[in-house]
Amino acid sequence: MGLLDGQRAVVTGGASGIGRASARRMAEEGAAVAVVDVNVEAAREVAEEIDGTAYAADVTDPEGLRAAVDAAAGAMGGITIMFNNAGIGGLSPLHEWAPEEWNRILAVNLTGVYLGFRAAVPHIRASGGGSLVSTASISGTRPAAGEAPYSAAKAGVAALTASAALEYGPQIRVNSVSPGMILTALTEPLVQFLPHERERFDRVTPLGRIGQPDDVADVVVFLCSHLARFITGQNVVVDGGMTLHGSGVDGIFDQVFSPGA
Ligand SMILES: NC(=O)c1ccc[n+]([C@@H]2O[C@H](COP(=O)([O-])OP(=O)(O)OC[C@H]3O[C@@H](n4cnc5c(N)ncnc54)[C@H](O)[C@@H]3O)[C@@H](O)[C@H]2O)c1
Repeated sequence: MGLLDGQRAVVTGGASGIGRASARRMAEEGAAVAVVDVNVEAAREVAEEIDGTAYAADVTDPEGLRAAVDAAAGAMGGITIMFNNAGIGGLSPLHEWAPEEWNRILAVNLTGVYLGFRAAVPHIRASGGGSLVSTASISGTRPAAGEAPYSAAKAGVAALTASAALEYGPQIRVNSVSPGMILTALTEPLVQFLPHERERFDRVTPLGRIGQPDDVADVVVFLCSHLARFITGQNVVVDGGMTLHGSGVDGIFDQVFSPGA
């Protein structure tokens, strides 16, 4: 028996990293899974592995995302789980962010989560209830220099989560996860660019290592399952204890923008 037997899940950003791991773990636990991503080829590969379905959508496109979620609901016979996970990052001095880049980071990481609620809540209600989980970040709970729009967006996701939990209980539980430093396509360039940081991430993490996508995926499965039946409105930090010391990316801004200073 799986933790998610009979559940029907949509995962945005499900083609890579944390989303891909979560789609796989949800399927292992018995859920039907629809993978939604801008990278539809990679989304199809994940869907094939887990006997799921794949849809192309940009989470910043209200009607495109709604159409993908509607199609997923049609194919699965409804939706009971929505995992708003698609996200992008970036690093720049605050006053040098181009307004278009600022808007894009806010649009994907924060507005994209709202648009996920907009698309999925009617289906989850029609199914009699369920669970919404969104990916925030330790950058929202413990921001570092250089990632102002990302941090602001992710802090916004935690606030949106709490507000939505008040609106949608008791039928729908709403939570977020805040991953720490997790090895994915998002963080790989950082580790490539500053290889010595890789060792520091292990050293400053009380649990002794950088995170893997499955470390977060297991918490997402838990939050979507009956085991979390009395948890709503929470932002669960999954960072191996790293932020007990500081932010994961503390100091990186200085190394990138004033090396040698
Ligand atoms: N990796 C980390 O250390 C870390 C830490 C904290 C939070 N996060 C968050 O976790 C989430 C997943 O990131 P990841 O690390 O797995 O990165 P990733 O780059 O491996 O995966 C992100 C996925 O989202 C998709 N995507 C990006 N923009 C999209 C859009 N507009 N519409 C639809 N899909 C889109 C990408 O194609 C990709 O498949 C993000 O929200 C990220 O901000 C990651």
